[in-house]
Amino acid sequence: MSVIRLHPSGRTVPCPDGATVLEALEKSGYALPNNCRAGACGECKIKVVAGRFDQGFVLDMALSPDERKQGFGLMCMAKPLSDELVVEWGTPTPNRNCSHRARTSPTW
Ligand code: FES
Repeated sequence: MSVIRLHPSGRTVPCPDGATVLEALEKSGYALPNNCRAGACGECKIKVVAGRFDQGFVLDMALSPDERKQGFGLMCMAKPLSDELVVEWGTPTPNRNCSHRARTSPTW
């Protein structure tokens, strides 16, 4: 069992062994944007600021080598390897059941 800590709110979510970060967030009521759930679209990309994780197999077009170096990961495939994984997502006071990703342009 690992813990996922949301930054900057500091809120925590339990992540059972074998579960992805996306699955753990959803189970706790946080709606991280996602689409393919298979490491192919990049919709679930967020920055991991502390801790280690297994990214699993994802496509470079969804997560580039440069993005990996910057600490980004695809949470639909990411599984924590450390006791705590700190991810940059949400606001200082996130609400469950809503998306917090700021969009700078329409998606269509
Ligand atoms: S939901 Fe498509 S890459 Fe994660």
